[in-house]
Amino acid sequence: MVILLFGPPGCGKGTQSRFIGEMLRIPAISTGDLLRAASQSASQRIRDACAILFQGGLVDDAVINEMLVSRLEEADCRNGFLLDGYPRTYSQAAFLQQHIVESKRPNPLLIHLDVPRPVLVERICSRRQCSKCSRIYNLVFQPPKVDGKCDVDGGTLSQRKDDNEEVLSERLNAYQRMTESVISFYAEENYHKLDGSLPPEKVSENIARLLVRPLSARTSEAVP
Ligand code: AP5
Repeated sequence: MVILLFGPPGCGKGTQSRFIGEMLRIPAISTGDLLRAASQSASQRIRDACAILFQGGLVDDAVINEMLVSRLEEADCRNGFLLDGYPRTYSQAAFLQQHIVESKRPNPLLIHLDVPRPVLVERICSRRQCSKCSRIYNLVFQPPKVDGKCDVDGGTLSQRKDDNEEVLSERLNAYQRMTESVISFYAEENYHKLDGSLPPEKVSENIARLLVRPLSARTSEAVP
């Protein structure tokens, strides 16, 4: 399966991509994570391209496309993958589609998590992330058991550099500018808008319900 998780900053893409990845046993690839790692890269060209990330703008399509393709060529993507935060522009959607056709993969399913703006601001400003395993917490909605420590591995929880109101406003504007064009790329049957403002478990439940349908259809098709 190829799943694309789409939605504004703070809608729960990272939270739900972990759930989906574990459920379907496919890698959940966050282009934000790829870029944050690349921003420490030895290459000046890549570091320069990633600088905009911390101001809330979008990184150049060519740079992110190159990184994505090299990640998709890794062995763990053989049976499918989930993309969190890609495509973000029409040209990225077109690029991905070409890659999908050339690599003979099934058409992607786009899951759009819809959340009103005021909720996003509250979520983002109280988000914390484990520095070891990247697990996501929220001081208000999903607090860790021990203050400042990851429940799973005890890693230190920290706040992302771009998680402040000023940069967030730029990120939301960038998202709003591109939303319609990305959605317009996908056929109605491959596009699913879900309410991301529900509690995380409820969102996961709705995603699971949506994904079980194509999975069972595929299984029955496979039976001779
Ligand atoms: P990226 O890392 O993708 O960030 P984003 O899209 O801004 O999304 P976030 O990671 O902030 O939020 P999320 O939707 O994952 O929510 P989360 O699950 O953490 O991108 C960062 C930057 O990289 C971009 O600005 C851009 O510069 C660049 N970039 C990335 N991809 C690119 C691309 N394709 N092209 C060009 N540039 C690119 O949840 C948020 C908080 O809410 C958490 O604290 C969580 O605990 C809580 N929460 C989650 N769900 C719920 C719920 N249902 N109820 C209550 N709380 C919840």
